[in-house]
Amino acid sequence: MIKKDSIYKGDNSNDLPFSFNEEVAEVFEDMIDRSVPGYASSLRLIKIFTNKYFRENSNCYDLGCSLGAATERLLKATEGKEAKIIAIDNSKAMIDSCNRRYADHIKSGKVEFIKQDITDTKISNSSIVVINFVLQFLSSAERTSLLERVYEGMIPGGRLILSEKIHFDSRFRTEAMSELHHQFKAENGYTEMEISRKRDALEGVLLTDLGTLHFQRLESIGFKKVRKVMTNLNFMTLVAGK
Ligand SMILES: C[S@@+](CC[C@H](N)C(=O)[O-])C[C@H]1O[C@@H](n2cnc3c(N)ncnc32)[C@H](O)[C@@H]1O
Repeated sequence: MIKKDSIYKGDNSNDLPFSFNEEVAEVFEDMIDRSVPGYASSLRLIKIFTNKYFRENSNCYDLGCSLGAATERLLKATEGKEAKIIAIDNSKAMIDSCNRRYADHIKSGKVEFIKQDITDTKISNSSIVVINFVLQFLSSAERTSLLERVYEGMIPGGRLILSEKIHFDSRFRTEAMSELHHQFKAENGYTEMEISRKRDALEGVLLTDLGTLHFQRLESIGFKKVRKVMTNLNFMTLVAGK
């Protein structure tokens, strides 16, 4: 059963910066679903684009896999096909949980969960790379260097599926979207106190880029056909090809 996120509810919550520790891993499915508008649809899109662009005998990467929700869609989309799925996260709690959940798939050799910093990951022979709400936790230089490596390690015709929280070039629009996002979380049962404590904990940890910067960066690296395939308030999903 999915455990409800109440981390920022009681007096027991601390003032430490947000981290993907054991406590967060335990409630992560509920947390991301109630906090990120369009999260469930982002997973559906991963399956749809993998169905279309995966190439037999290539690798799929899920960079920053958390509890493996996107990996699960990669597994479904490549069922019965020659594929290797490599899922990476630098949180021990997340990888330990994935290793328990997906033990059968791991035994079959179809998927591997690796505890590693994605800034060190080598990408090779990939037709699908998923970065689902993860780039926002890297420094600006790390974002560029990771995407360059993704591009280098991708076979022609491959696709990157990238979802991110973003901000806008108008401060007014950014604030308006942020307010709607706040209401989205309140609608999903988070109290004003929880929303404000979580926002404080994420300060300096989750840093958004301008939506337009994502396009510019991908295109300047060499990605082609960079398309916005979904937006939900201040969250966006892009698909980019090689
Ligand atoms: C918002 S969650 C990603 C959600 C997940 N992709 C999904 O679709 O369910 C961000 C994840 O990225 C991981 N992460 C953040 N920075 C990382 C890094 N430098 N290397 C590896 N993993 C990282 C975190 O541990 C966390 O599990």
